[in-house]
Amino acid sequence: MRLDKFLLKSTELTRSQSLELILAGKVNVNGEPVTVAACQVHENNQVELAGQLLVARPSRYLMLHKPANTVCSNVDETYPSVFNLLDIDRPFDLHIAGRLDADTTGLVLATDDGRWSFNIITPHKACRKVYRVGLRDPLATEVVARFAEGVQLQGENGLTRPAELEIISPQEVLLTITEGKYHQVKRMFAAVGNRVVRLHRQQVGSIKLDMEPGQWRYLTVDEINAFQ
Ligand code: URA
Repeated sequence: MRLDKFLLKSTELTRSQSLELILAGKVNVNGEPVTVAACQVHENNQVELAGQLLVARPSRYLMLHKPANTVCSNVDETYPSVFNLLDIDRPFDLHIAGRLDADTTGLVLATDDGRWSFNIITPHKACRKVYRVGLRDPLATEVVARFAEGVQLQGENGLTRPAELEIISPQEVLLTITEGKYHQVKRMFAAVGNRVVRLHRQQVGSIKLDMEPGQWRYLTVDEINAFQ
């Protein structure tokens, strides 16, 4: 983990305070001052601030049910941030593994473990995300095959990865994708001449949303291990 991140996880300092102390040479790694914030520190390194040995707090992993009209960034924008829903210490140290649009509802995973969230968002790991999609027009049956083959999104190189469609009713489907391009689901349906009118994420990998809008909980050990 980066030295500046280590300070955030082991003290009550803010990002800018941590950086200032590192640049001022106040942080020692294995007895030597280190002034590079990006320096990697490992579990067996001794990190000290003003002579005090620092110990990182364990990483946190949680799910929340994002209501509509909230944003996934960690500052309020036109709508309030979902982080306001978390009644925990230092919620803004967390980041979201796969953001949802302001009008999308459903499963959001938050953590301060960058390696864990990378496994969810990198297309190479092909983590399955399941969306329940409300459509403006009845689904044309050939769309199932087109999504399985991949569609061309405007401004992207190459086709989308194979996606699965399960039809619930003519205007309601379950879509499973293994990547997360910007506005991907809305753009996929736009590419076949339809329009998304409701979007809800109900599953990421093996983790299923199991709570009411606005609620959150810590993930279980099995849920965390599913992405290690
Ligand atoms: N695809 C979208 O278009 N929007 C989302 O919020 C998530 C996936």
